[in-house]
Amino acid sequence: MRIHRTFPLLAFAALLSADDEAGKIMRPADKSSHKSGTVSLVATAPFGRLELDGEPLELAQPFPNVFHGEMKVSPGTHSLVLKWAGGRKEVRFFSGPNAPAEFTSFQQHPPIADVACTQCHELTARGRFRFKGGCFDCHKAESFQKVHTHPSSLLEECGMCHNAHGSTVKAHLIHPKEIACKLCHP
Ligand code: HEC
Ligand code: HEC
Ligand code: HEC
Ligand code: HEC
Repeated sequence: MRIHRTFPLLAFAALLSADDEAGKIMRPADKSSHKSGTVSLVATAPFGRLELDGEPLELAQPFPNVFHGEMKVSPGTHSLVLKWAGGRKEVRFFSGPNAPAEFTSFQQHPPIADVACTQCHELTARGRFRFKGGCFDCHKAESFQKVHTHPSSLLEECGMCHNAHGSTVKAHLIHPKEIACKLCHP
């Protein structure tokens, strides 16, 4: 188990809230296919551990409890597992040409190379990693309401509906439109 020397209080708080939702693999998406043998990973879990095809995977933690780095993989199907005290998540992905039908092409977002995590994230004064915005540096604020029914001030938690790290689906939606409205209008 990996101990954070710089953020002991934060790590402790995270441990107290450890549950099945505490760990997330933001990238790659489950059942995604990747042309390249270099696959980008973004994940988080309190005192998390990663395994690629059953072997421990050591990756940098640019923020407390947040993993980010590139995996070098051979052509074929792979299993990525994230484990922590409260649970376990797994995604399966494919690398190389001729992906089997169950895998869908992964569209990374933003599709521009080398966009920093801090474009959209910051650490709070207490060291908590959080979303801060920054979407409208690239997207037109004026056209937002046409697509969204509500102004962006009301839908500021973009992550409620979009996976901003990429996905295999149109508009990187986490929920289909019908369900997205019901998050607030049950
Ligand atoms: C284009 C904007 C954008 C970029 C760039 C981005 N993220 Fe995110 N990220 C988001 C959004 C939006 C969420 C959802 C926030 C929420 O629901 O609170 C999120 C959530 C996360 C989460 C989950 C946080 C939690 O506890 O639920 C992690 C971890 C994360 N991002 C890591 C990263 C890392 C590491 C990078 C850099 C490789 C990165 N992100 C780049 C927009 C972005
Ligand atoms: C660094 C620039 C950049 C930032 C920041 C950025 N995007 Fe994007 N995004 C793009 C580009 C480029 C595209 C692909 C071209 C397009 O469809 O506009 C894209 C595409 C998308 C799409 C897919 C559009 C489609 O029709 O499939 C969604 C949804 C999206 N972005 C949401 C977000 C959200 C939400 C945030 C903030 C959390 C964000 N973007 C931040 C550059 C960015
Ligand atoms: C309640 C759910 C929800 C939230 C919250 C949300 N979106 Fe969306 N967004 C959608 C849906 C649904 C679509 C697809 C609309 C369609 O295809 O008709 C979409 C589409 C988009 C697109 C593609 C639009 C295009 O012109 O093709 C972008 C960019 C985008 N959203 C950005 C954002 C940003 C930035 C935020 C946060 C400020 C955000 N969204 C918050 C549901 C949401
Ligand atoms: C983040 C929460 C949230 C989401 C997601 C959301 N809404 Fe709303 N919606 C609101 C709030 C809050 C109001 C009241 C706003 C006001 O009075 O200005 C509202 C008002 C409305 C109204 C005006 C009628 C009324 O009941 O006052 C309509 C229509 C509506 N929403 C449709 C939608 C649709 C369609 C979607 C999905 C595309 C959606 N909303 C998603 C929060 C949300």
